[in-house]
Amino acid sequence: MKILIINGPNLNLLGKREPEVYGKNTYQDLVKFLKKNSRVLNVDIRICQSNHEGKIIDYLQYAMKKRYSGVVLNAGAYTHYSYAIRDCIAAINIPVVEVHLSNIKMREEFRKTSVISDVCAKTFMGEHFESYRKALEYVAKKN
Ligand code: DQA
Repeated sequence: MKILIINGPNLNLLGKREPEVYGKNTYQDLVKFLKKNSRVLNVDIRICQSNHEGKIIDYLQYAMKKRYSGVVLNAGAYTHYSYAIRDCIAAINIPVVEVHLSNIKMREEFRKTSVISDVCAKTFMGEHFESYRKALEYVAKKN
């Protein structure tokens, strides 16, 4: 089973970026963590990251075209206002699981809204890397 993991804007700065919110682990640590857990769950993963909205949409469409079983998506700040990413998730017929390192419901007002949640199969948040592990497990068990 193939699962695509898409990380949005500024996630490449993990470790340097607001460590009190996102933790001290780097993006490379996240990649290692995901690879390790994909072996445990016996799934094939591909991991990508982009700071650009259109590129994230291209990755989502790629997942559909290449018949991935599901997508794990941390859309970063696009979560809160990208109707284009929302429309894409609604358009592709594969499960997309929303993840966040932090608990967006407990932060600034503008972060409390996710415009993608109701078109995603499930959301995991507030558990740092563990949010991703749970999302991977969810997709693995769904198929
Ligand atoms: C985030 C939360 C978003 O509000 C923020 O813009 C991010 C990261 C998270 O993983 O907690 O870039 O998606």
